[in-house]
Amino acid sequence: MTHAGFLDFDEARVQARRFLPRALFDYIDRGTEAELALDALRQGFDRCRVVPRVLRPVAAPDISVSVMGRRYPTPLIVAPTALAGLVRHDGEVKIARAAGAAGVPFCAATQSSTSIEAIAGNARAAELWFQLYVWRDRGETWKLLDRVAAQGVQTLVLTVDTPASPKKIHNQRNGFGIPLRPSLRLAADLVRHPGWTLGVMGRYWAGSGLPSYANYPPAVGTQVTSAVIDPRFALDTILDLHFVEELRRRWPGKLVLKGIAHPDDASAAFGAGCDAVVVSSHGGRNHDSAATPLEMLPAIRAAVGAEATLLADSGVRRGSDVAKLLAAGADAVMLGRAPLYGLAAEGESGVEKMLSLIVEELRAFLMFSGVETTSALG
Ligand SMILES: Cc1cc2nc3c(=O)[nH]c(=O)nc-3n(C[C@H](O)[C@H](O)[C@H](O)COP(=O)(O)O)c2cc1C
Repeated sequence: MTHAGFLDFDEARVQARRFLPRALFDYIDRGTEAELALDALRQGFDRCRVVPRVLRPVAAPDISVSVMGRRYPTPLIVAPTALAGLVRHDGEVKIARAAGAAGVPFCAATQSSTSIEAIAGNARAAELWFQLYVWRDRGETWKLLDRVAAQGVQTLVLTVDTPASPKKIHNQRNGFGIPLRPSLRLAADLVRHPGWTLGVMGRYWAGSGLPSYANYPPAVGTQVTSAVIDPRFALDTILDLHFVEELRRRWPGKLVLKGIAHPDDASAAFGAGCDAVVVSSHGGRNHDSAATPLEMLPAIRAAVGAEATLLADSGVRRGSDVAKLLAAGADAVMLGRAPLYGLAAEGESGVEKMLSLIVEELRAFLMFSGVETTSALG
């Protein structure tokens, strides 16, 4: 029997590589420097083996989880990814709708190519979270948060693991960056991927214009072909605990710090009043020597106690990877590239399919392991 379309992460990734221009695929797929962090993620999951228990029938494994006091049907959350709207026309809305259909929260990015208002207006039932990169102009940053709160967003995710710009030579070689600089190489890349060039870029071109950082004020401009030149909207990468405390005073909803690796940093986050942290190596995209979440989660769980909410991400390709992070101490898991590849491969239904494949794999993992619930995985 043959099946149309992808059946797991790896197959979706292959389809994504075919559909997307090389420059965009590499931007999504690859790591930084020597890509050691990316390798460590993969090897970490692969090396982690499980001793199955048998004769303990698990007919209907329960994969629902509690996150910050709320119950969710699955332990999955869509991670924030900048410029997801480049993958497919209205990509962020498509991912949000697919997430909503699966009962999975969707975390919109500061640097998304659809504004938070447009996502909220079209996201169907998705629970929206918002990821904050801080602008140098704090007044403008607070205004952005007011807009986010006005859309009913209750969970704010502050990313703290990007204190410098990571070195990615593939982006430089491919000519991928903001601003997008026209080049022969880029032109050839576009010609080789007509489905994307016409179906995604062409539709933007014919409609609302080329995608930009849509949460930035229109005057700051910024289509993908023009740079953010206004220094007020440069990212403030030098954050400290005082800033987290100030944000805690200003943001009435749930506050999550994303990009934690050290137990002391996790403790400091909860000490400053955060509701959760995301243990993450940013998908191997930032610090190329960073420890993996799988390595660090047990010590972080021990430091913060059983009640604190720990999320985790980086390198998750299938249900077994999710299960391993849960077993290591996470309460739920964020997915970055997986929904993007589902989106690239088959659009909105591809994101839904990717989420449901990972859920099926997770259920099978529990049944093979003789474990009734995700909380019993540890
Ligand atoms: C294309 C892409 C763009 C991303 N942009 C952001 C971003 O704007 N803010 C952020 O906090 N994390 C960003 N991330 C990191 C993700 O939120 C997440 O931590 C990471 O992708 C998880 O690893 P995974 O892709 O292996 O699932 C991005 C990741 C990708 C792949």
